[in-house]
Amino acid sequence: MLTSSSGIPIGDQLCSLTVGPRGPILLQDVVLMEEMAHFVRERIPERVVHARGAGAFGYFEVTHDITNYCKASVFEYVGKKTPIAVRFSTTSGESGSSDLSREPRGFAVKFYTDQGNWDLAGNNSPVFFIRDPILFPSLSHAQKKNPQTHLKDPNALWDFFSLRPETLHEVTMIFTDRGTPDGYRHMHGFGIHPFKLVNAHGAAVYCKFVYNTNQGIKNLTSEQAAAISGSNPDYALKDLADAINRGDFPSWTLYIQVMTFAQAKTLPFNPFDITKIWPHEQFPLLPVGKFTLNKNPENYFAEVEQIAFCPHNMVPGIEPSPDKILLGRMLTYPDALRYRLGVNFEQIPVNAPKHVAVANYRRDGFMTMDNNQGNAPNYYPNSFGGPEVKREFLQSSFCLSGDVARYDSGNDDNISQVRAFYLNVLNSAERQSLCQNIAKSLKGAKPFIQKRAVKNFTDVHPDYGARVLSELEKLGATKPESSVQSYL
Ligand code: HEM
Repeated sequence: MLTSSSGIPIGDQLCSLTVGPRGPILLQDVVLMEEMAHFVRERIPERVVHARGAGAFGYFEVTHDITNYCKASVFEYVGKKTPIAVRFSTTSGESGSSDLSREPRGFAVKFYTDQGNWDLAGNNSPVFFIRDPILFPSLSHAQKKNPQTHLKDPNALWDFFSLRPETLHEVTMIFTDRGTPDGYRHMHGFGIHPFKLVNAHGAAVYCKFVYNTNQGIKNLTSEQAAAISGSNPDYALKDLADAINRGDFPSWTLYIQVMTFAQAKTLPFNPFDITKIWPHEQFPLLPVGKFTLNKNPENYFAEVEQIAFCPHNMVPGIEPSPDKILLGRMLTYPDALRYRLGVNFEQIPVNAPKHVAVANYRRDGFMTMDNNQGNAPNYYPNSFGGPEVKREFLQSSFCLSGDVARYDSGNDDNISQVRAFYLNVLNSAERQSLCQNIAKSLKGAKPFIQKRAVKNFTDVHPDYGARVLSELEKLGATKPESSVQSYL
C-alpha cells in the first residue's frame, strides 16, 4: 500500500487535486505538496573530496596470528570473521564525474568489530602528496576546478606540485598507469599512515597496513581510460557491482609492516612522513587475513552516500603514530561528517556499530534516530548505574618533549625514494609512458611552471627531466631549443 511518510494510505498519486479538470491546484493537496517538498531536499552536501564512489559489503577473516603485536579483538584468533563495509572512490571529481580520472583512488574499510567500529580509510597508493595537513586544502583546490572558470586548471595543479616537491613521489606514481586502475577490483590498498599496534602486555610497535588485490593488478593506459570515460563514466562502479552480482567476489589479502620504536629512531628518514614508503626489504609484509566483498548495497544513498569513515575510529590495540597527516585527518573527518550528515551521523544504520551497544553521556541533537539511550543517566559520574569506564582499555602511555614551533618539512629528502622508484621499479616502457602522461597534463601549464616542474623531475634523475622535456617538445609545448641543461 502506498502511504505518506507518516504511514497514511494514499488514494491517488497520478493526479493533482484541482478545481474541475482544467482548474487550478488546491493548497490542500498534501500528496502533491509533500512529494515536492521532499524531492527538493533530496541532495545533501557531497563529500568535499572523494565525492564519487562505489561501495560493497563483506567480511574480514583472520588467517595469521598477530596477537604478539596487537590485542585488537578483530585479530583475536585465526578464523575469526568480522563484517566489513568498503567504499572505493576517486579523489577530486564531483559525485557525477567520471570513474576514469587520473588520480589516487580511495579504498576505505569499516570493520564492524565486537569492540566498536575500526575505520581504515586508505588509498590505492603507498604514499601521499604532502606531509603536513595544513597544505591539504590547497592540494585539493589545485586539483579541483578553477574558481573563476569552473574548469580543471593545469596551471594550478602544476604550480602547486612544482612549488611543493614533496609531491614528487605520489605524482610519479599516479602518472604511471597506476593512476588509471582498471576498475576498483584490480588495485591494491594502503592504509599509508604508520599506526601503533599494542599487544595484551602493553608492548607497542609501529605498523602500516597493506591490502593486496587477489584479482591481480590491472591498469588502463591513458588512451584506454579516455575512451572508456567517454562511453561509460560509471565503469568502475559497474564493474564492482557486476562482479558481485555474478558471484565473482573480489578479495584482498591484508598484511602489516612492523617497525620497532628502536628502528624508528635510527631510520635515515622520518618513518612518519607519508610521502615515503617503508622498504619491504627492511619491513617485510606479514600476512594477517583476507577481506572479501560479497554483497552489493540495497540502497546506494542509505549505505554508500551516507557511510562515514573516521580515521580516529581505532579500536583498543590500534593507536595513532605521530604522523602529522593522520593526526590532521583525525580532526577533520568527524568535523566534515557533522557538516555533511549531522551530529548524529553515527546513528545512521550503516555507521552504527553492529555488535556493541553504544552507552555514553552524549544526548540529543538534530535527527536523533534511536531511543536516545532511554532513561539512563545523562551525566557522569553518577550514582544511578550509568556506563562505567574500563581502565584496561586506556591507550598506551608515551612520552613527548620538544620545542613548540612550526617546523618546515618541505625539503625533507623529496628525491631518494622517487629516484629508486623511477630507476628500479619502472621499466623503460613504463618510464616512457609516465613521461608522456606527465607531458600531456603539464603542456596546459604556463612555460615558467613547466620549467619548474622539469627542474624537479631532473633533480630526481636527469633522464626523468629529459624525457618529460622531450615529450613536451613533441607536443609543441615548449620552444625546441629548450634543453634540460638550461633548467639546472
Ligand atoms: C590532511 C590530509 C587530509 C585531509 C584534511 C582529508 C580530508 C578528507 C575529507 C574532509 C573527506 C570527506 C569526508 C566525508 O565527508 O565523508 C575525505 C575523504 C577521504 N579521504 Fe581524506 N583527507 C586527507 C588525507 C587523506 C589521506 C592521506 C588518505 C589516504 C590514506 C585519504 C583518504 C580518504 C578517503 C578514502 C576518503 C573517502 C572516504 C569515503 O569513502 O567516504 N585522505 N578526506
